[in-house]
Amino acid sequence: MRKLVIINQKGGEAKTTTSRNISEILALKGLKTLVIDMDPQGNLTTNFDINKREVKTLFDVFNREVDINDVIIEKTENLSIIPNNIKMAKANMQFAGHPNWARLLRKSLKELDKKYDYIIMDCPPALDFSTYNALNAATEIIVTLQAEENSLEGISDLMDTIEEVRDDNEALKICGVVITRFKSNTNLHKGFKGVLDNYFGEAMFKTVIRDNIKVAEANQSHKSVLEYDKESNGAKDYSLLVEEIIIRN
Ligand SMILES: Nc1ncnc2c1ncn2[C@@H]1O[C@H](COP(=O)(O)OP(=O)(O)O)[C@@H](O)[C@H]1O
Ligand SMILES: [Mg+2]
Repeated sequence: MRKLVIINQKGGEAKTTTSRNISEILALKGLKTLVIDMDPQGNLTTNFDINKREVKTLFDVFNREVDINDVIIEKTENLSIIPNNIKMAKANMQFAGHPNWARLLRKSLKELDKKYDYIIMDCPPALDFSTYNALNAATEIIVTLQAEENSLEGISDLMDTIEEVRDDNEALKICGVVITRFKSNTNLHKGFKGVLDNYFGEAMFKTVIRDNIKVAEANQSHKSVLEYDKESNGAKDYSLLVEEIIIRN
């Protein structure tokens, strides 16, 4: 079972969009996939047309009120989601004194061992309780970022956090770094792609997710881009990205 965490502590770097689209494509390939909304804002949950207010979440699992199997919502035969809502924002305080606060998710996921081929975790834009739990539970990391001047700004903090988590989760690997919302017709983006290729080397995915209005429209319609317009650049790019993810196993 591969457990991929989709991460970047900045907002707007297409973490949720990437989580949604790659999980849907993996499922369409017949791979049993669970996508976990780790962000208390619950954007991914809304995107899957789930009413945030009415669901039990990992917060209730961590509080031992429900079993993890009871918070999983099956969307299709191969795709399930664990929703989230604002209650999770209390977790930072609630579990602050808990000696194993960063291992709560890892422990909970043990129950699901072998039930899925892929678990995808959509992180909040912060290096907080939820992100540490996701990193501790993960086997691999996918970093999403835009090819913009400030996109490297938080990266050293992110790399430090990953190193810190490796003390506990030694096997944690970087699956890859993917550029999102790429505008191939601008010199600015092309220039920064060069910078990122240099910085990350082999870790960069060859696939780049182009800026594509169909991706944003699909989000608005609460659909994956493949469902929304399978001929779109967004659908093509995310399909190629999934091929690469599978190969990098
Ligand atoms: N390839 C893309 N082309 C156009 N818009 C995109 C693309 N990827 C993401 N977006 C838009 O960018 C915004 C931020 O994406 P989101 O996935 O919510 O980021 P994050 O989860 O990192 O905060 C959303 O409005 C989304 O629709
Ligand atoms: Mg998000």
